[in-house]
Amino acid sequence: MGRLDGKVAIIFGASPNMGGTIAHWLAKEGAKIAACDLDPKVAQQTADFLNGRGYETIALSGDASEQDQVVRMVKDTVDHFGFVDTMVNLAGRQLRWPVTDINIHDWNLQIKTFLTAGMLTTKHVAKAMIEKDKKGCLIHILSSAAHYGEPGNSGYSASKAGLNYFSKAAAMDLAHLGIRVNCITPYAMEHNIWRFGVGAPFRTRYSTNMQDFLESIPMGRFPRASDIGNAAVFLADDASDYITGADIPVDGGTRAKYPGWQPGKFTNIDVKDYYEQNVATAFGEPVEKTV
Ligand SMILES: NC(=O)c1ccc[n+]([C@@H]2O[C@H](COP(=O)([O-])OP(=O)(O)OC[C@H]3O[C@@H](n4cnc5c(N)ncnc54)[C@H](O)[C@@H]3O)[C@@H](O)[C@H]2O)c1
Repeated sequence: MGRLDGKVAIIFGASPNMGGTIAHWLAKEGAKIAACDLDPKVAQQTADFLNGRGYETIALSGDASEQDQVVRMVKDTVDHFGFVDTMVNLAGRQLRWPVTDINIHDWNLQIKTFLTAGMLTTKHVAKAMIEKDKKGCLIHILSSAAHYGEPGNSGYSASKAGLNYFSKAAAMDLAHLGIRVNCITPYAMEHNIWRFGVGAPFRTRYSTNMQDFLESIPMGRFPRASDIGNAAVFLADDASDYITGADIPVDGGTRAKYPGWQPGKFTNIDVKDYYEQNVATAFGEPVEKTV
C-alpha cells in the first residue's frame, strides 16, 4: 500500500529534473498524476515515462501564469480523474541581471511566471478541491533566493520571496477547509552539473559557480531531485495534515549555516571529483552523462 493511494496530483513545471522526479515519487506512493508544462513535449515525456512504469498519468500543456490556461488544465485533470487533491508548482522563468541592468520586460516575466503563476495555480486548484469537498495539499517550490539576497538575481529573489509569503497568506485563507499550503526550498541542485557542466555558471562578481555552491553546503553534497521528491511525498501525505504555512529547506543545512563559514574549504571537496563520483539522473533514475 502506498502512502498516497487514492490521491490525484497536478504538477506545474514537470521537466525530468525536479518536477518529473517529484511526479515519479508521488506516483510510486500511489498518486495519479497530471503532468503540466509550458512545453508540450516535456509534459508528454513525463507522462510517457510514468505511464511506461504503470503509473496513471496524463500530459497537459499550458502556461501556469495565464489564468485561462490554468483553469483549463485544472478542469482537464478533474474531468479525467474525478478530482484533484494535491498540487506541486515549479513553474517559472529565471532571468539573471545585476539590478542596474535589469529591464522591465525580464522583471515582469519573472514576477508573472513565478509569483502570478503561484497565485493562479493555488486559486484554481483550491477551488477545484472545494467544489469536490476535498481536503488536500498545495506545494510551491521556492529557492534559497527566496530567503537571501542572491547576487545578480534580484528579480528571481523577489519572485520567490513573494511566493513564500503568498503561500503563508493563502494557507490562512484555506486552513478552515483542511486545504494546506506549504513550500519546499531547494538549494543549488545537483542536476545543474549534469545539464550545464561543472564550471557553470561562469563565476562573476554577480554569480556563484558549482564549486562555490558545493563548498557552502554543510552536508557536502548537492541536493538531488529525489531529496525534493521525498519532501513532497511527506507534505502530500495525510500524516502531515496539521502542517500548513510551512517551508521546508532541503539544502543539507545551508540555511542554518553561519554565513562566513565555508565547510567545503576544510574538506577540499572538488566539483570535478564530485562529477566523477556521482551519477546523472532524470526522473530520479540514473542516466548517461551528456555534459
Ligand atoms: N535547479 C536548481 O538549482 C534550483 C534550485 C532552487 C530552486 N529551483 C526551482 O525549482 C523549480 C524547478 O527547477 P528545475 O531545475 O527542475 O528546472 P527545469 O527548467 O528543469 O524545469 C522547469 C519546468 O517548468 C516549465 N515552465 C517554465 N515556465 C512555465 C510556465 N509559465 N508554465 C508551465 N510550465 C513552465 C519549463 O518548461 C520546465 O519544463 C523552479 O521553480 C526553480 O526555480 C531550482
